[in-house]
Amino acid sequence: MSKGLYAGKDILSLAQFDRKSIDKILHSTKKIIALSNKNKCSNLLKGSIIALLFFEPSTRTYNSFSSAAQRLGAGVIGLRDISVTSMVKGETFEDTIRIYNGYSDLIVMRHPESGSAAQGAVVADVPLINAGDGANEHPTQTLLDLFTIKSKLGRLSNLKILMAGDLLYGRTIRSLLQGLSYYEGNTVYLLSPKELRLDKKIKRSLESRIKIVEIEKESQIPTDCNVWYWTRIQKERFTSKNLLKRMKNAFVVNKKLLDAKGNKSMIIMHPLPRIGEISEEIDTDPRAMYFQQAKNGLYVRMALLASVLNKI
Ligand code: NCD
Repeated sequence: MSKGLYAGKDILSLAQFDRKSIDKILHSTKKIIALSNKNKCSNLLKGSIIALLFFEPSTRTYNSFSSAAQRLGAGVIGLRDISVTSMVKGETFEDTIRIYNGYSDLIVMRHPESGSAAQGAVVADVPLINAGDGANEHPTQTLLDLFTIKSKLGRLSNLKILMAGDLLYGRTIRSLLQGLSYYEGNTVYLLSPKELRLDKKIKRSLESRIKIVEIEKESQIPTDCNVWYWTRIQKERFTSKNLLKRMKNAFVVNKKLLDAKGNKSMIIMHPLPRIGEISEEIDTDPRAMYFQQAKNGLYVRMALLASVLNKI
């Protein structure tokens, strides 16, 4: 496979990928894991500076990118709290990006507004990676989700996947649906309360490439799913407090549901944080993959940083 496929590219949306480019990054991830186990990648990005601009809270994405950069020998600068930047003096988003552009070789950005990653990429000359823009997309999460599925189930095609929770505001869902649509024979069951269904326009745009079945009750879950992908209610994107109260913990993965609707060979995933949607009694179940999934994020992001900076 060609080196340089990602060199210098912005990573903004799953729409810019195809099967070949996804397979390539998953392959690079395996390579990075092998190098890392032999302690052979700690100088790969020596001399590079990565800017992490997080305008919205994050635990996993921020720290896995930070750890990834440092494990590859890069330096890290950035912001996690705009109250300590000149934005409180009124500096614009664009000017802030221009400044970090001058100090770094690559920008990783998270922002509460949909479309902000594309907006930032217009201003930045260095490559920009979208680490989540509002309810829009979260492409690097999808790459680590796909890596997790592939390494546990051995394939990304001909799968039955249940996605549950907040499908209206969940950006991980939007990106993952696109990612899975590049592989043949996948069927996705979307379980959510009526009010939190996937946007109709997005559903229509995907339907020629992936089979989508909307369900509303746990009793409708087929018992032969390969993956359960659960998500939390995105309360920061809600306007109605009443709706939020009604929707909270609408669907919960617990032993009872797994016994009724699960099977032996499936895996259970969640981008985390979980806010009660997966009962802790599930954590020791060998099918629970969410902590491994978060850890995979480190390696996928190492591969991505090294690929965009043309070092792998
Ligand atoms: C997700 C996100 O930020 O969209 N978290 C993450 O990056 N692992 C999911 C979420 O916040 O619900």
